Amino acid sequence: MNKRSIVPEGPPRIPPTALVTGASRGLGRALAAGLAREGYDLILDARNAGDLRAAAAGLPGTVTAIAGDITDAAHRAALARAAQAAGRLDLLVNNAGTLGASPLPALADYPVGELRNAFEVNVVAPIALTQLLLPLLRASGGAVLNITSDAAVEAYAGWGGYGAAKAALEQASNVLAAEELAVRVWWADPGDLRTDMHQQAFPGQDISDRPRPETVVPAFIRLVAQRLPSGRYRAAHLLPVTS
Ligand SMILES: NC(=O)c1ccc[n+]([C@@H]2O[C@H](COP(=O)([O-])OP(=O)(O)OC[C@H]3O[C@@H](n4cnc5c(N)ncnc54)[C@H](OP(=O)(O)O)[C@@H]3O)[C@@H](O)[C@H]2O)c1
Repeated sequence: MNKRSIVPEGPPRIPPTALVTGASRGLGRALAAGLAREGYDLILDARNAGDLRAAAAGLPGTVTAIAGDITDAAHRAALARAAQAAGRLDLLVNNAGTLGASPLPALADYPVGELRNAFEVNVVAPIALTQLLLPLLRASGGAVLNITSDAAVEAYAGWGGYGAAKAALEQASNVLAAEELAVRVWWADPGDLRTDMHQQAFPGQDISDRPRPETVVPAFIRLVAQRLPSGRYRAAHLLPVTS
């Protein structure tokens, strides 16, 4: 006689799903790969479709790549439809960002159009995308991870446009955390990373001493896996200390 217990068939289990913006390169690409390795299905975006396809290729699990600009309401709606089609959303990573004007101008000379664009990409779009996805995130007891910067809290000359936008994203995150008690809200500074954006901030300089984005992925996986309390984090403080 077969003594194994017979488990009644329930509805098919839907894997946890994460939506990562700006996932075609840099930190977003590394985070997407890390989450895929942890068993997440993914919804990914970036504007350049070819780069996004290349980043999505070969990742384990179900990956839905939708090219578009997060400042475009129709694109954000397409991302939300993909999350609804997936049946659940456990994590939204608002990672896509812009440095704004480069070389970094002083605020006295900051082109106002570039300033407005920095706020559109770094603040308005992540808030608008979060609004669309909150119902799914509430339903799953999910989380929002907003990628910010030390420039949000430190006064570096030249970083006023980017820093003011990141500061606004930080305070929006802080208020969201107070309002959405069923959802974790983290806003996190990854630290300096060897990426295109960082190179844009230091044109012509050798940035090869900056760590690769992959090095901070374990910090963010820890945040997610341990479901740490809502709040501001620095990747460096979440990583194990190495000698
Ligand atoms: N690198 C650092 O040292 C550092 C330090 C602190 C914080 N951060 C933050 O970390 C995040 C990632 O930065 P990164 O250094 O990895 O930058 P990156 O290498 O320039 O990558 C940015 C990603 O976002 C996408 N993106 C940019 N604008 C977009 C838009 N409007 N709509 C959709 N996708 C868009 C880019 O693809 P497309 O160009 O194809 O759209 C790319 O996939 C940013 O929020 C940044 O502020 C970075």
